Amino acid sequence: MKDLDFLRRRRSVPSRLLGEPGPTPQQVDALLAESVRVPDHGKLTPWRFLRIQGEARHALGELVAARGLERDPMSPAAAVEKDRRRFSHAPVVLTVVARLTPGHKVPEQEQLLSGGAVCFALLQGAQALGFGAQWLTGWPAYDAVVKARLGIGTDESVLGFIHIGTAGVEAPERLRPDARDLLTDWAP
Ligand SMILES: Cc1cc2nc3c(=O)[nH]c(=O)nc-3n(C[C@H](O)[C@H](O)[C@H](O)COP(=O)(O)O)c2cc1C
Repeated sequence: MKDLDFLRRRRSVPSRLLGEPGPTPQQVDALLAESVRVPDHGKLTPWRFLRIQGEARHALGELVAARGLERDPMSPAAAVEKDRRRFSHAPVVLTVVARLTPGHKVPEQEQLLSGGAVCFALLQGAQALGFGAQWLTGWPAYDAVVKARLGIGTDESVLGFIHIGTAGVEAPERLRPDARDLLTDWAP
């Protein structure tokens, strides 16, 4: 089963453990180029990317912290600080944005799933390039004000912020389900 080693070794690295160096612009280009090779029923390309890097990460953190306080003025200082630093750890955050075609014969669920596959391809690709990565959403992904400031339309949604960088320490493994417990054989 050596062929499956890559999948067996795949794991996320918490974004707070990610730092410099991040992928070069060429590596990001290559990562994106391969990550669009996902199943996409109807070839609708129901997703797009938004890159957040450099100073823009800190600016987004400030914006998110301010919005968090607006949502909850009683928010504890630690939560506000966590929001401020949310995008500041990994050098590059690739946002996968779903842009669905409603009413198409390909159901919206399938279009969303295709975008989820893009997120997972980015995780795997980042790891294959020797980086750590984590797929995060959190409340900012669903907040109308943050979305608008990111230039994400009301008809679009954030499927994930994929944080990519170099892992400072080895990522902890987590308990995985035993697939055999999840499997039944259908019988007519
Ligand atoms: C759509 C989606 C959103 C997620 N958002 C968060 C999040 O906001 N915060 C978080 O701690 N983990 C989040 N996760 C979980 C992490 O991406 C990741 O699965 C977890 O750190 C375990 O890593 P693993 O990939 O090694 O299983 C999310 C996962 C998915 C699929």
